[in-house]
Amino acid sequence: MIEYTFYKYDSIDSTNDEARRLINKGDLEQFPQEAGTAWGENAVVLADSQINGKGRLGRHWYSPPGNLYMTVVKRPQVPITQLSQISLVVGVAVRRVLEKFISPDHHLALKWPNDILINGMKIGGILVETDIPSTEAPPVCYIGIGINLLSSPDLINYPACSLLDFTKNVPTRDDFSRLLLASIETVFEDWTKSGFQEIREEWLWHAYGLGKPVQGIAENGFKLYGRLLTIDPEGALIISDEDGREHLVRSGEITYLS
Ligand code: BTN
Repeated sequence: MIEYTFYKYDSIDSTNDEARRLINKGDLEQFPQEAGTAWGENAVVLADSQINGKGRLGRHWYSPPGNLYMTVVKRPQVPITQLSQISLVVGVAVRRVLEKFISPDHHLALKWPNDILINGMKIGGILVETDIPSTEAPPVCYIGIGINLLSSPDLINYPACSLLDFTKNVPTRDDFSRLLLASIETVFEDWTKSGFQEIREEWLWHAYGLGKPVQGIAENGFKLYGRLLTIDPEGALIISDEDGREHLVRSGEITYLS
C-alpha cells in the first residue's frame, strides 16, 4: 500500500505548479532514497479550484469548485524515452474509475494522447510535466489530472461534459481521488514491471475513433491528414495518409474530421 502525502488547498494557481514548488523546496538531489521511493514520490496536490489551471499546449483549464484537480508526483525508473507513455497509462487508470459510475450504454473512450471522452465529449484531461535531475536520480513527473465531476465549460470547438451529465451518484472529490490513486497505483505497477504491451492493448480497446479521418498536429506545428490507424508499441500515434503511407506522431494532438 502506497503512503501518499496530501497537500490540499481551497484555491491554487495550478496543482502542477504547486507540486513542482513543493518538490523543489526540498532540493531533490540532497534527499536519500527511502525504501525504494525517490524524494517527493507520491506527493499529491489537490485543490478545490485553480486560478491558472493549465491544459496541454499552453491552454487554459476550466477550474471552478466542484471538479477534480489533482497532481500526483511519480518518479518512475523507466528509460526517458518511455515517459511519454505516462499520459496513456494514466488515461487507462482514469477510465477504469469512471466506468464504475456510468452506464455501459455510454461510450467512455480515450483520445490520444491525454483526453477522456464520454460519447465524444471531453470529461477530463491529463497534463504530465517532467523535470530531469542533473544526476542519476529518476525523473520527476508531475501528473496533473482534471475531471469534470459537476460542471463543464462551454467550448466552441470542443464539446465537453461532466460526470453529473451521466449519473446522479457523482462521488465526492475526495472519494474520486482515492479511487483514482488506487487505480493509478495498479496500472503504474503493471507498466513499470511488465512494460507497456498490455496497457497499450487496453488503451486501444477503448480508443476513440480508430479508422476515422483526422488531422494530426505534431508539437512542432507540422500538420498531416489521414486516418487514425493505431498507436505503436511505444505509444506514438500512427496516421495513414491517402496513399497508405504511415506517419508517426510522437507528441502533439489530433482533431477528428468527421
Ligand atoms: C488537457 O486536457 O489539456 C490537460 C488538462 C489537465 C488539467 C489538470 S487539472 C490538475 C492539473 N493542474 C493543472 O493546472 N492542470 C492539470
